[in-house]
Amino acid sequence: MTGTVRIFDTTLRDGEQAPGFSMTEAGKLAMAHALARLNVDVVEAGFAAASPGDFRAVARIAAEVDGPVICSLARATRGDIEAAAAALEAAPRKRIHVFLGTSPLHREHKLNMSPQAVLERIGTMVAFAREHAEDVEFSAEDAIRTERGFLVEALSIAARAGATTLNVPDTVGYATPEEIYELFCSLRKQVERPRGVIFSAHCHDDLGMAVANSLAAVRGGARQIECAVNGIGERAGNCALEDAVMALHTRRDAFGLTTGIDTRQIMAASRTLSQVTNTHPPRNKAIVGANAFAHEAGIHQHGVLAKRETYEIMKPEDVGLASNAIVLGKHSGKHALAARARELGWTLEGEALEQAFAAFKAVADEVGLVDSARLIAILEGEAEGTPANLWALSRLEIRAP
Ligand code: KIV
Ligand code: ZN
Repeated sequence: MTGTVRIFDTTLRDGEQAPGFSMTEAGKLAMAHALARLNVDVVEAGFAAASPGDFRAVARIAAEVDGPVICSLARATRGDIEAAAAALEAAPRKRIHVFLGTSPLHREHKLNMSPQAVLERIGTMVAFAREHAEDVEFSAEDAIRTERGFLVEALSIAARAGATTLNVPDTVGYATPEEIYELFCSLRKQVERPRGVIFSAHCHDDLGMAVANSLAAVRGGARQIECAVNGIGERAGNCALEDAVMALHTRRDAFGLTTGIDTRQIMAASRTLSQVTNTHPPRNKAIVGANAFAHEAGIHQHGVLAKRETYEIMKPEDVGLASNAIVLGKHSGKHALAARARELGWTLEGEALEQAFAAFKAVADEVGLVDSARLIAILEGEAEGTPANLWALSRLEIRAP
């Protein structure tokens, strides 16, 4: 495989829709600038018809953020499409994203529409959106639970009406990677579309498979994936942008595809989102969690200090971190203790190292993690929990700066 996968970021739309992640207009603008620095291809700035505040945020991002295509979501109605077009007016490059449920569940219980009416609505509303923008995306909401023949028809109608991107959402995060791969392979063969119209995947994480499913879609021929920073989004979230991008980047050998993302901006974008939403990703979150490049266990610390690649498959600098972290705790070993002490100006060798290590372990057992300030206190024999007699024996042998 060769080529580029477009990164469509929906942090400000699907991400913001999730409880606990709502953002102020200023916060959305700050995040949109961070996404532009990340060099995403498309920023879905919001859902202009959803509220006056959302309209204003989309309009400000359209006017003030340079670089990416700016997009607004719209239901398949004239009012929503007109609101999206008005909010996007100032954007040099704009996209209207029209969606309509296509699965039997959505047709019968949510839309109360016949299959024929759904197809007609797709055709007329995508054509209407094209009157307002050259770049129109159509999403068949709940595509995964839509009958295959009906999905092929719906997407073919959208493409004929002028959609330039055909998005296939796994709205409820139900699919497996094998199913997604097979689905995209068959849609590529069956959907009638003009040259240049691309397929997109929009995967939710209800079963923890959003990233794997997005990558399976890419293997099946999708050339856009819809992602959110820190994986935020409805319920369990969307495909995490940083995971999918770093998987494509780190495993170029497996995928043979690139993205336009400046990966060194990943941490900055993640931290901007945490600040704007006041919610941090879990410590063990891939790529951006506090533990993603941290090592506490002695065997791992020894390996990483000897050769980083023993326990790291990515360079911390590539995601915008200054370095990895050797964290001192009760699982840490002498190599890490001596290395941190050296950074702080202390040389620990031989018996002095043995004594300091024993004192350090006693403290770590009590407090968990030992930061530099606490380590200095240990080395100076003043940390609470440092056994005084043990320390009295060792401190003379430690050469302080
Ligand atoms: O999950 C979904 O189906 C969506 C669409 C609106 C694209 O978010
Ligand atoms: Zn979604």
